[in-house]
Amino acid sequence: MSFTVAIDGPAASGKGTISRAVSEFFGYAYLDTGLLYRAVGKRLLDGIEPVEAAQTLDRSVLDADALRSPDVAQAASKVAAIPEVRAALVDFQRAFARRAGGAVLDGRDIGTVICPDAEVKLFVTASAETRAQRRCKELQGKGHEVTYEEVLADVRERDARDMNRADAPLKPAPDALVIDTTALSIEDAVAQVVEIITEAGGAD
Ligand code: DC
Repeated sequence: MSFTVAIDGPAASGKGTISRAVSEFFGYAYLDTGLLYRAVGKRLLDGIEPVEAAQTLDRSVLDADALRSPDVAQAASKVAAIPEVRAALVDFQRAFARRAGGAVLDGRDIGTVICPDAEVKLFVTASAETRAQRRCKELQGKGHEVTYEEVLADVRERDARDMNRADAPLKPAPDALVIDTTALSIEDAVAQVVEIITEAGGAD
């Protein structure tokens, strides 16, 4: 039987960490859909036309570490505004969501466009400053030379592009539960989400 958990939100809101933790807790498969757009963005930086890059993407070799740089994040946000790029990635995401045994997908449009019938829909957010602090620490920990100001500007630019594009903009589904992680520890956020999924009949 399938059970879909859709988790959307802006960059560095904590949605990835929460998604990974709850997928492990319930034994569900996990798809970080941002990696699909990052992989297309990376191919754009390598000189490949984005629509072709999306249509011929090898989804079995999504190397998360190589795709986590600020340049790739910006390129991902740009290619994500192209309707043909998004269209090329829809079927794969929907099939993943309905696989037997349950699935957690995180992204920007999972509850609104990809899985409007998901059993659980969440929108995870936090202030731009908090998200920039988290992302800055994460990038510096991986050896990227970035400042807080640069990361904050980057987060704001991406938020604006992701929220204002015409096709599948970043926004909560009307029936999504909003979780603000600005003043919430990751443990508390995960505990809240585990409770929400359990109440909705997850892993029964
Ligand atoms: O979640 P992330 O930061 O890895 O996503 C990178 C970019 O990909 C993000 O700025 C917008 C785009 N994206 C999208 O448009 N739709 C999704 N479902 C996931 C990501």
